[in-house]
Amino acid sequence: MELKGKRIVLGVTGGIAAYKAAELVRLLGKQGADVQVAMTEGATHFVTATTFQALSGKPVYLDQWDARMPNAMAHIDLSRQADLIIVAPASADFLARIAHGMADDLLATMVLARDCPLLVAPAMNRQMWENPATRRNVAQLAVDGVGILGPASGEQACGEVGAGRMLEPEEIVEAVIAFFAPKVLAGRKLLMTAGPTFEAIDPVRGITNLSSGRMGYAVARAAQQAGAEVTLVSGPVGLAAPQGVERVKVQSALDMHAAVMARAAEADIFIGVAAVADYRVANAAEHKLKKDSGGIPPIELVENPDILAEVAALKDGPFCVGFAAESQNLEAYAQTKRRKKNIPLIAGNLIQDGFGGDDNRLVLFDDAGTHPLAPAPKSVLARQLVEHIAQLLTGKD
Ligand code: C5P
Repeated sequence: MELKGKRIVLGVTGGIAAYKAAELVRLLGKQGADVQVAMTEGATHFVTATTFQALSGKPVYLDQWDARMPNAMAHIDLSRQADLIIVAPASADFLARIAHGMADDLLATMVLARDCPLLVAPAMNRQMWENPATRRNVAQLAVDGVGILGPASGEQACGEVGAGRMLEPEEIVEAVIAFFAPKVLAGRKLLMTAGPTFEAIDPVRGITNLSSGRMGYAVARAAQQAGAEVTLVSGPVGLAAPQGVERVKVQSALDMHAAVMARAAEADIFIGVAAVADYRVANAAEHKLKKDSGGIPPIELVENPDILAEVAALKDGPFCVGFAAESQNLEAYAQTKRRKKNIPLIAGNLIQDGFGGDDNRLVLFDDAGTHPLAPAPKSVLARQLVEHIAQLLTGKD
């Protein structure tokens, strides 16, 4: 429920992506937002008001002369009650109208009369998006402080391929959550690791740690939403990079070490979430090992560098945060690790609480003591961790 109590007006304009706005209403509602839908006349040719009424649980506003507003001022009342207006999809025509301050239907009038922020998610044919007139209108809206979400590139409803697809509803919800997140890490550069590493035995086999990368990716997303400039050095995982995060993909611990050390001096914060393999194979084979080539192949292991400890040892290095996944004695092991690696903060979790799933249980250990966080989705824990880091940094500034 990351949008609990937020009042959002969702404007829907005429475009085929209007059908995706129905899912957007559902997802915003799922995050606890109170959604009021307003449609342009064009939008009603694609999706009916009944769909949006059913999903939002509220009557939809369609025209300026709606008799339901006792003072006949729907445009003022609806925008005054909102924390945010999102227009998704925003058609080329609608962007043109609001770029010029027109007030020729309810939604445009509401946008003009608003005293809250406005986000738009453009959706149109690629030629319409690239047309100089649209370019001018979008540039003007950006200057006016309107948040432009997307558009994405890809296959379009008209059969053409290019820029102009509306962002997916999930991506719009992420952008809305990011919009409301307190910017506690604004201006900070954050470098982090996530996922497992893969240590090759031969071209097709290797040693790895079990790590879905979900906790690390949630931390990257939360930090980016809190205003940090995030670089995520990631081992092999099946996850998409969070929006606005620079991802550097690596395989082995040595690759991860090199990618981190090349960037560590510039970082203000370093968070090691990756499950780095402790050892790598010294005698990795160039070609695939064959079963029938005589006996069990010997595998020689050598120790990998401890990336976190090395970053923590840098002179004037970043504020370092570690993770400790343990199967028992969490507090004792985590505190020992914190002291050994000489880091101010470590987030501990019991393996049985969080592996591979969406939820986790974290305990934060720092100089002030032990801070257990209530069991929650990884996205919520990530936000709490980010807030804790921000507090410790503010104390240091
Ligand atoms: O030493 P251990 O692996 O238990 O410590 C876990 C913490 O150290 C995590 O934050 C992990 O990302 C980091 N680490 C590292 N490089 C290693 C091993 C662990 O950065 N080689």
